[in-house]
Amino acid sequence: MKLLAPSILSADFWRLGEQIQACVEGGADLIHFDVMDGHFVPNITFGPVLLESIKKHCPLPLDAHLMIERPERYIPDFVKAGADMVSVHVENSPHLHRTLELIKSLGAKAGVVLNPGTPLSALEEALHYADFVLLMSVNPGFGGQKFIERSLERLRRLRALVDSVKPQILIEVDGGVKEHNLLEVARAGADILVVGSGIFSAEDIKGQTRRLKELLTSSEAL
Ligand code: DX5
Ligand code: ZN
Repeated sequence: MKLLAPSILSADFWRLGEQIQACVEGGADLIHFDVMDGHFVPNITFGPVLLESIKKHCPLPLDAHLMIERPERYIPDFVKAGADMVSVHVENSPHLHRTLELIKSLGAKAGVVLNPGTPLSALEEALHYADFVLLMSVNPGFGGQKFIERSLERLRRLRALVDSVKPQILIEVDGGVKEHNLLEVARAGADILVVGSGIFSAEDIKGQTRRLKELLTSSEAL
């Protein structure tokens, strides 16, 4: 099943609850939280306290993408706040085995993230310990960026690598995924598709979420 994960980075934070509710009603499968500290990436966003509030009202799994220095310091806080999935970047997690094991020991799904310039080979060992891989199709830090075209080729190679090592691993693709390329990304091997501006820039967030979810469901029929 292909899953749709709205990224709230592009939401209107004045109306965040209402907009997340629209995603829920539109059939979204999980909510993606882009956590940024202004060091690992140029932008600064939010911490566990936001997930805590959302968790009280949102029935969907919460997917915390940690774009922060030394993410291991905050993993317990994010899981305690309600994160069901936590992903860390291979680029700044020298103790990746320990960090992935920490996430799983706390009861969350463990994800490893790869930036567009990092070779897939950096993942090889981590695949044995991860529940999912988050493949960045933009440089992390901002919503609304253009999908890096080479990401499709990388995604196909990653799918083959995952299928050869641990087929149950889910592949999540993040950045520049919109209505026009959603099916292509799904067919290239993505299991979870993160969509930020492609949902929250729509007038009708619920309708747009439903449209993308229906597209994904139709892609499975093909
Ligand atoms: C970028 C984030 C992405 C981003 C996706 O650093 O990891 O999740 O918010 O937003 P769009 O879909 O607008 O590229
Ligand atoms: Zn993200």
